[in-house]
Amino acid sequence: MVKLLIAYYSSTGNGTKMAHFAQKAAEDFGAEVRLRQIPELAPDVAIDANPLWRKNVEATKDIPIAKSDDLIWADAFVFSSPSRFGVMAAQMKQFMDMQGGLWFAGKLANKAITAFSSAQNAHGGQEEVIQSIYTVAQHWGCLIVPPGYVDEKSYGSGGNPYGTSATITPEGKMVAEDEVDGAINAQVKRLLSITTILAGE
Ligand SMILES: Cc1cc2nc3c(=O)[nH]c(=O)nc-3n(C[C@H](O)[C@H](O)[C@H](O)COP(=O)(O)O)c2cc1C
Repeated sequence: MVKLLIAYYSSTGNGTKMAHFAQKAAEDFGAEVRLRQIPELAPDVAIDANPLWRKNVEATKDIPIAKSDDLIWADAFVFSSPSRFGVMAAQMKQFMDMQGGLWFAGKLANKAITAFSSAQNAHGGQEEVIQSIYTVAQHWGCLIVPPGYVDEKSYGSGGNPYGTSATITPEGKMVAEDEVDGAINAQVKRLLSITTILAGE
């Protein structure tokens, strides 16, 4: 059985929703799943200034924090971060930067990975965020599994071949949520199929 780590960062809950879409797809596939949130770095004063942010923190307090051990445990990774001026959130980068010891010991090599993102605009940097995650993954020696144009469900949320990209309205609502769910479903199942082949199962 493939072991999948879903490691996500989300401030206002859309990334949380995308991570749950990924969890559903992976469990449907028959994978063993660890859903983990990336630790928050922002101070309470910033979180309290945005009711959606505080709501997401409260709603996800039982989702465990991602640890290095989760990376060692997994055969495959889903990473997800919203756009922060076109790069991954600092929280996600900090988590990645904490893995130097694992990288040096070769413990991150040969893991399969795929990534998602969201932004307020349809072209608000999602592709750059996904590519920045893949850049780090290449340094780790991971095997990138993009959705490509393989499954027609990938087209529903804009057809980004690098990774599912959601658009979020200024009010914080995800555009075409069902289509994003479908695209994530196809992307995660493709990751798990490729991981199964790599494992020779
Ligand atoms: C500091 C910051 C920078 C952002 N930069 C952009 C941006 O450059 N373009 C854009 O479309 N959205 C930008 N956004 C909006 C976020 O990408 C959007 O809030 C996010 O996708 C929501 O995901 P979440 O609900 O999981 O936190 C930014 C948000 C913050 C807080």
